[in-house]
Order: sequence, then C-alpha cells, then structure tokens
Amino acid sequence: MAAELFPDYNDLVPGGQRRTRKASQANADGNLTDAPGKAADCAAGESGETDGHLTDARNAEGAEPARENFTRREVQAMEILAVNNLKKVYTTRFGGSQVQALSNVSFKVEEGEYVAIMGESGSGKTTLLNILAALDVPTGGAVLLDGRDLSRLRESERAQFRRDHLGFVFQEFNLLDTFSVQDNIFLPLVLAGTPYPEMEERLQPIARKLGIGDLLKKYPYEISGGQKQRVAVARALITKPRLILADEPTGALDSRATDELLRLFEAINRDGQTVLMVTHSVKAASHAGRVLFIKDGEVFHQIYRGVSSDEQLYQKISDTLTMLATGGDRA
Ligand SMILES: Nc1ncnc2c1ncn2[C@@H]1O[C@H](COP(=O)(O)OP(=O)(O)OP(=O)(O)O)[C@@H](O)[C@H]1O
Ligand SMILES: [Mg+2]
Repeated sequence: MAAELFPDYNDLVPGGQRRTRKASQANADGNLTDAPGKAADCAAGESGETDGHLTDARNAEGAEPARENFTRREVQAMEILAVNNLKKVYTTRFGGSQVQALSNVSFKVEEGEYVAIMGESGSGKTTLLNILAALDVPTGGAVLLDGRDLSRLRESERAQFRRDHLGFVFQEFNLLDTFSVQDNIFLPLVLAGTPYPEMEERLQPIARKLGIGDLLKKYPYEISGGQKQRVAVARALITKPRLILADEPTGALDSRATDELLRLFEAINRDGQTVLMVTHSVKAASHAGRVLFIKDGEVFHQIYRGVSSDEQLYQKISDTLTMLATGGDRA
C-alpha cells in the first residue's frame, strides 16, 4: 500500500527497497508507515539497552542483517502510535449540518520519530491531535497508543493515561489566567500528585532551556504570545512524556523564537521523545524526520527525510504543497 500511494517512498529511505519489503512483511496490514529510516534508527537508540537486534539496526551498514531477524512482534514493539481508519464527523449544535473533518486517516508512528503534519486550514489537523490526545472521540476507527486502544479506556483511566504518556501543546495555548506561569506548568504534575520539591527540580532545567526563568511568577495575561507558547511547551515537557503532540507550536513566534523552539524539539527528540507536530511552516516541518500531508480528511502523501538535509527536505515539502494547492493527484 505504501509503495502504491507513495511511489518515491523507496528513494527517500536509505536502503528503502529492502526496508519497505521487510516492514511490509512484518506489518501484515501493510499500513502507510512501514519502517522509516530515521524511525528505525531512533527506535534502535531507544530500545538498544534491552534488545540486541535493535542496537545493531542503529548502524546503517550493519542494519539490514539485523533487520532480517525481526519478527512481527519486535517490529510492533517499536511502535508508539497506530491510527487506524480514523473518522470524525462533527454535528453542529442544533443538528442542522454535519462536517466530515476526518474521513479515513491511517498511519503509524514509531518510538523516537519526529513527525510533522501539514495540511490546509480546516483539513482536520487539530481534530486529529485532539483525538490522539484522547480529548475527543472519533466517529469511527481506532487509536492505539502503546498498544492500548484509547476508546477502551474508562474516562478516569483516560485522564491518567494522558498524563502519564502525553504532552500536549495546544494551538490556543490553553493556559489558565488565574494561575501563575509556574503553576500552569506544574498543573499536570499537581494532578499526578508529584511532591513539590520534585516539581521544582524538574522545572529548573526546562525553564532555562526555554528562557522563561524570569516569567515564572507572572500570569499568562502579563506575557506575550511567544512567551505563552514557550510556557505551554514547558507544561507539555514537565511530565517527561514519551509522546509530545504539538499543534502549530511556532505559530505565535518570531523567526528567532521559532528557531529556538525548533532546536528544542530536535533536542527533545534526540533524547528519545517522540514528537508529532502540526505546522503550517515549511521551515518547521523541514526539521522533522517525516512529513505527513492531510487533505480531504485523509493522509494524502508523506515524505521521509531519508538522507536529505533540512534544505533538501524544505524543497520537497514546498513542491508537495504546491502540488496539493494546485489539486494534483497523489504523486
Ligand atoms: N467542534 C466543532 N464542531 C463543528 N465543526 C468543527 C469543530 N471543530 C472543527 N470543526 C470543523 O472541522 C474541520 C476541521 O477542523 P480542524 O480544527 O481540525 O482544522 P485544522 O486543520 O486544525 O485547521 P487550522 O489549520 O486552521 O488550525 C473544519 O471544517 C472545522 O470547521
Ligand atoms: Mg488547527
């Protein structure tokens, strides 16, 4: 299916032909995200301590022999997120009309990946992230996070699961004006019952990295949009989540602050955290390992970084957006 939808897939992944074949064998459902180069490498880094095969797979040269030995179970073990045939239909308040925000979205994300999601305004990106974060429920399809079907979690379990696994940076920041910046950042830890000294300990390095140390006693209405965005990022990072979902995190930032935030996301990702970032910015997306394009409620196309530099990926993303805007068929 991947080769059919994305004919250039194999060119984009080093050793792509073989990886595609192996992964397709391993994932019997042959879904869109087989075994991307960066994902496999990052996943290997993550899991290397416990799994000899995966450590081997990290070395580009030695990777393929190790991958020969992958069983279906091992490949699945690297997967942090599986989105299967997701649908979302909104019914307006008085039931007058319906909006099909997602019609059939399927993709997988492997541990350690950095994935950007692009698509026109109204294409369903926020809807998708909200469902992935278990903040909204789909009309059809399923989301498996760490192998657990979100729809099968009870409401109380869902909140805890979200706190334990996810960091979410909202498009609208969602900071509480009645709480100081520091208390906003602490909120997920307070809800998780974390002792205060530990909260303090976790905050210091994050505040330093994000350059918000001087803002901690202020209130959200006393700081700028870009500063709010950084506070929102700090709140998402403080629980050390394995998966970070960010909705347009650079939207309110100037170019310097954007660069800083992108460097931060790269560093977080290098440390092993998986990042899924919705963005309108080609520059922001060009830092990712993979870019998914959503159109008409489906994943229309995707680009793997492969061996491309940021500049080369930037060009490929621009070309794809032009193709999407001019209504081109799937490449
Ligand atoms: N709560 C809602 N009720 C009804 N329709 C909604 C609701 N939320 C979103 N929609 C509609 O669903 C579609 C997808 O919206 P969504 O917010 O997911 O788009 P988006 O890709 O995030 O757009 P943007 O890039 O502008 O943030 C749009 O047509 C939108 O009007
Ligand atoms: Mg949105």
